[in-house]
Amino acid sequence: MIQMMNSISSKIFSMKPSTLSILLVVTSLLLALIAFSPPTPFSVKSLPPNSLSYFSRLKPDIWSATRTVEWRPCKWWNSDSLTALPVENNGYIRVDCYGGLNQMRRDFCDGVGVARLLNATLVLPKFEVAAYWNESSGFADVFDVDYFIQQTKGFVNVVKDLPEELSSREPVRVDCSKRKGQFDYIESVLPSLLEHRYISITPAMSQRRDRYPFYARAALCQACYNALRLTKALEKKGSDLLHAIPKPFLSLHLRFEPDMVAYSQCEYTGLSPASMHAIDAARGDRKPWTGDAARIWRNRGKCPLTPNETAFILQALAIPTNTTIYLAAGDGLLEIEGLTSIYKSIYTKSTLLSSEDFVNMHGNTKAALDYYISISSDAYIATYFGNMDKMVSAMRASKGLYRTLFLSRRAFADYISKGLRGKELADALWKTHRDDFIMGRGSALPDCFCEYGL
Ligand SMILES: *[C@@H]1O[C@H](CO)[C@@H](O)[C@H](O)[C@H]1NC(C)=O
Ligand SMILES: *[C@@H]1O[C@H](CO)[C@@H](O)[C@H](O)[C@H]1NC(C)=O
Ligand SMILES: *[C@@H]1O[C@H](CO)[C@@H](O)[C@H](O)[C@H]1NC(C)=O
Ligand SMILES: *[C@@H]1O[C@H](CO)[C@@H](O)[C@H](O)[C@H]1NC(C)=O
Repeated sequence: MIQMMNSISSKIFSMKPSTLSILLVVTSLLLALIAFSPPTPFSVKSLPPNSLSYFSRLKPDIWSATRTVEWRPCKWWNSDSLTALPVENNGYIRVDCYGGLNQMRRDFCDGVGVARLLNATLVLPKFEVAAYWNESSGFADVFDVDYFIQQTKGFVNVVKDLPEELSSREPVRVDCSKRKGQFDYIESVLPSLLEHRYISITPAMSQRRDRYPFYARAALCQACYNALRLTKALEKKGSDLLHAIPKPFLSLHLRFEPDMVAYSQCEYTGLSPASMHAIDAARGDRKPWTGDAARIWRNRGKCPLTPNETAFILQALAIPTNTTIYLAAGDGLLEIEGLTSIYKSIYTKSTLLSSEDFVNMHGNTKAALDYYISISSDAYIATYFGNMDKMVSAMRASKGLYRTLFLSRRAFADYISKGLRGKELADALWKTHRDDFIMGRGSALPDCFCEYGL
């Protein structure tokens, strides 16, 4: 399956960008639009074929809008005003992380805050790879350990090795996941830590972070946004890749893989039989919503944007169709022609890396490369606001790269359900996203970043 996707995508992506004249672009756009078959409620396929003019060619792109608000790292986690670390610790904590790279990173960040909160010393985390990675790649394979320890000095204690009396045993696992409601680590975890001296946790989402003392929040922010750097080897790979992409470029994080679509429980019409098959196979017990429930679900912005819809929104944002785009995405994207038939200057890892390199590369490594490219690109657009997007957005804000935008699935669904099409739809999407961009909405995490008026 993956191989099939690879060969399809390498065919698509081998159509190199370069010297297409405007005429060619316009013609292919027209052809693409004519190819849209009968109207369906939720697909941009229902656009009238002769309405190309609704994408105003004279409009400057979305990035020309003047921002009034910017997110920057808050001053309060600056190391000047640090609370001294306790002389005696309450024990040692290992953070056990699961899932994709960015989910593991998020949990690890939370774990740093917990360790500081409990006056514990942090042991290097365990990065447990999810089944779909089919590989093993631990924390030290992805992140620069010495840099992490150096950067968190004064914020939280970190050791590479446990003291002798503990080094021979595994940590006692304290399960936070089953705790319901608001979760307080001092009440629920500190007793176990004091009893066993060495525990492992996977932070729960429902923790009372609002009760955190200032120094625990500072440790989290510093560790997450100022101490995680890819290993030298990965940075080298990343910068080689970055060099190979023509500048300037947009990094586009597209999510339309079978498991993603299946998980969303959304129904789509007009997809190819192959895509429908792949989605059905991934659904398992998660049946899609139907009828009114499906409509409400979609209007709440729960349904991933198709590549076609994404291409439509990008055009509505006046992003020229000859823009160089790096696809920060996995290999299994469905319906990718919906994008590549319009935006033709598309680069992916599989086109840029030697096939040998690509095949041998771990899932975590690929995710790390997408992350690296996305925090270095001129612009970043995501069709979703997932863990990767949150990390990328925060790191871009730290670096002062403000051309960052999250497409609004909710607005798109809302306008479609109100019957907007063509120029009306494009104009409405333009206004919504321009306002988001001007207000810096959704582009940084409020925990560690503060809003600055411009
Ligand atoms: C951690 O240490 C600080 C002093 O640095 C102290 O105020 C706080 O109560 C301690 N917390 C725990 C959970 O031991
Ligand atoms: C997982 O890795 C093994 C060994 O490298 C390989 O034989 C197998 O095909 C892989 N499975 C998937 C689903 O990629
Ligand atoms: C895209 O087209 C515009 C106008 O047709 C041109 O000015 C610009 O240089 C082109 N950009 C790229 C990356 O080819
Ligand atoms: C997306 O658009 C392309 C052409 O632009 C078309 O061939 C394809 O069928 C469309 N797919 C969907 C799901 O609308």
